[in-house]
Amino acid sequence: MKLWGGRFTKSTHKLVDEFTASVLFDQKLWNEDIKGSIAHVTMLGKQGIIPQADAETIKNGLLVIRERIENDEFTFSVTDEDVHMNIEKALIEEIGPVGGKLHTGRSRNDQVSTDMHLFLCSRIKEIVELLKGLQQVLVQKAETNIDIVIPGYTHLQRAQPILFAHHMMAYFWMFQRDVERFEDAYKRADILPLGAGAMAGTTFPIDRQFVADQLGFTNIYENSLDAVSDRDYILEFLSAASITMMHLSRFCEELILWSSTEFQFIELDDAFCTGSSIMPQKKNPDVAELVRGKTGRVYGHLMSLLTIMKSLPLAYNKDLQEDKEGMFDVVETLKMSLTLFAPMIETMKVNEDVLKKTVNQDFANATDLADYLVRKHLPFRDAHEVIGKIVLHCIQNKKFLPDLTIEEYKEFSDLFDKDVYQVIDPINVVNARNVLGGTAKPQVLQAIEKAKILLG
Ligand code: ARG
Repeated sequence: MKLWGGRFTKSTHKLVDEFTASVLFDQKLWNEDIKGSIAHVTMLGKQGIIPQADAETIKNGLLVIRERIENDEFTFSVTDEDVHMNIEKALIEEIGPVGGKLHTGRSRNDQVSTDMHLFLCSRIKEIVELLKGLQQVLVQKAETNIDIVIPGYTHLQRAQPILFAHHMMAYFWMFQRDVERFEDAYKRADILPLGAGAMAGTTFPIDRQFVADQLGFTNIYENSLDAVSDRDYILEFLSAASITMMHLSRFCEELILWSSTEFQFIELDDAFCTGSSIMPQKKNPDVAELVRGKTGRVYGHLMSLLTIMKSLPLAYNKDLQEDKEGMFDVVETLKMSLTLFAPMIETMKVNEDVLKKTVNQDFANATDLADYLVRKHLPFRDAHEVIGKIVLHCIQNKKFLPDLTIEEYKEFSDLFDKDVYQVIDPINVVNARNVLGGTAKPQVLQAIEKAKILLG
């Protein structure tokens, strides 16, 4: 017998049960569902909407069910459609018809959104903690490698040398904004829908503030239609998650490139790589590749919910049941990615020797050579032209800038002096950029200090 069977004269098609049921995935919400029900029934008792004694009986029944689920002694059944009706039906079986009073003044429409809000609030907190853990690792990695210079790229062509620490800290600040985005999304998850009923409110004298306080919600939905029909709080979460995955995927791409034989800037720890079943020499950066790949799947879930929500009339529609699987998957995917990322970065080895050689074998110091002439009052455009010709000369003669003699330099401009060699030394190139946000060591150290304050 269905909980809503009263107005029906025959049972549903056997495939309809299967098609409409959400319990196979929404059973993930059991803890939130019981929490919400306890707060609701406590309020019903307090308001005298149902007798206090009944409220107590129901609450105790819910606690028994919670224990059964925790101990794996509960079977969710597709016939009872979703997590809400599975638990309610089990409650009635447990304590008798009085259990039927739990749903007074409530609908599954406000109930399900309450569960989802509770679920997201707790998962956002976990994700923020994981992000902060990764930020901690980045700060530490920056600090312990503070003197290592790496090539900086634009267009994936050598651009200007930078501190490896500066590169790590770039990701720190991206993840800092991600933390802020999640904290902001939290504000919209932190609103109580319960009390909206099916869509118009309820005829019973409920106390929504009491329920909000019990469940730890800061705010209450002001409008009952809005409360049961919007999923913008999930969309915000999915957007924040997509942006974080985008950041992770860029980091992954660099780790994959940097650990290739062509680069050899870093080596990922064996614990975060896998081998090949045919090529004995292979050590593949699978974790980084998979996080990069899973980014697509997270974007997909964002697009999927945006599409589900598009043009949906108010208020609740069954379409909204499709809000769950993608969101659950994103929570799992993001948490797993972040959990693996921190130790993968922590254990990666930075190949100082390779990097030292690398930054001395390119033209990434050419800008500084131009700036040198500018300081001797040559207009920048002219300086750019002169250095361009010098670089071309070097390429044609298989030389780098430090290999040219002072006589060769003077052929291009008599403004050159012996101090030119100082200016093009990669570490001096780095430290010359001593402006707020620049790569010079004092600036990076200052950024590390700021970061530590933010992390508390
Ligand atoms: N399983 C449903 C969902 O996830 C719960 C709400 C169902 N409400 C209804 N009137 N059918 O959206």
